[in-house]
Amino acid sequence: MDLLEVSKLNIRYRTKDRTIHAVRDLSISIKRGEVVGLVGESGCGKSTFGMSLLRLLPVSTDISAKKMMFNAGDGMQAGGIDILELSEKELRRLRWKHISVIFQGSMNSLNPVARIGSQFADAMFWHGFDDETIKNSISSHLELVHLDDSIRKSYPHELSGGMKQRVAIAMALVCSPELVIADEPTTALDVVVQRRILKLLMDTKEKLNLSIIFITHDISLLASIADRVAVMYAGSIVEIGDVRTLFRSPLHPYTKGLMSTIPRVDERQSELVEIHGSPPDLSGSIRGCPFAPRCGIATELCAVEMPQLRVVEGRHMVSCHNVEVQDGKND
Ligand SMILES: Nc1ncnc2c1ncn2[C@@H]1O[C@H](COP(=O)(O)OP(=O)(O)OP(=O)(O)O)[C@@H](O)[C@H]1O
Ligand SMILES: [Mg+2]
Repeated sequence: MDLLEVSKLNIRYRTKDRTIHAVRDLSISIKRGEVVGLVGESGCGKSTFGMSLLRLLPVSTDISAKKMMFNAGDGMQAGGIDILELSEKELRRLRWKHISVIFQGSMNSLNPVARIGSQFADAMFWHGFDDETIKNSISSHLELVHLDDSIRKSYPHELSGGMKQRVAIAMALVCSPELVIADEPTTALDVVVQRRILKLLMDTKEKLNLSIIFITHDISLLASIADRVAVMYAGSIVEIGDVRTLFRSPLHPYTKGLMSTIPRVDERQSELVEIHGSPPDLSGSIRGCPFAPRCGIATELCAVEMPQLRVVEGRHMVSCHNVEVQDGKND
């Protein structure tokens, strides 16, 4: 059984004057120990999806799904945990302990007036750890991310960006979760620190058999860390597959466009597909394929009918009317 099973997830933000349909019929399963990269341009719904797994969205948000199950390893609940049905109390048990998050820009999301040690203790507080365990866990997790134990007495402003980011990673891991949502965990860092932090995250993943949803708008980052890549466009997954398949033979015109943004010095640039225009307004209803207005191969059908995500081969799926697929659709 997969660790996470999401089927037909829809998320709508309700603001005073409009409703933004940020996630549209999204389906995905994550296996234990698997790293799935979630990529797509700004505003396509990546963080909204990530936060929905922890139910960390504004209260006015509408979430519905055919299925949103988390199958915890400790059998917290037979038959899995239905994320949408959890009470506030149950959610507190789920957060950090089963699913945790490294927030987008998390180095700025640490509380500026609390010492690092007490921020860890707060994260652990709800899970019934005693003081001794909390103290030892903080030490061992700071060590895991190569930080000195003494920084538990520091305030965030006393640390560099890379150190704060490592603190955020350690905090996400301190309650031994099974799934970590890493939302652009390295975006604000320079390339050398970024590489070091990615390596650290991957080493830790191996040690702890974590599953990771790695959110980024930089597809090139995923080549060395992801097992699978899911490409999101306007709230939906438009292509998903093993990292090698996706990098070698992307099929969706949007994925091809993203791939062609990766500079290659070793190979001939075979197919340069530029993505002109901008994504659709998610507050309106979208007729046909949301990518059609920007697509170089769109046909009349694309303008009127939304393509479904269908299996190409094995675990490779794509939603495009102009790609030959093997069989029926996935739900
Ligand atoms: N709290 C909110 N209230 C209303 N709309 C929101 C809210 N949060 C996000 N949105 C909208 O939902 C859509 C998806 O946003 P989201 O932050 O999930 O995108 P993203 O893919 O994470 O983008 P980025 O790469 O910039 O982080 C966007 O149109 C955004 O403006
Ligand atoms: Mg985001």
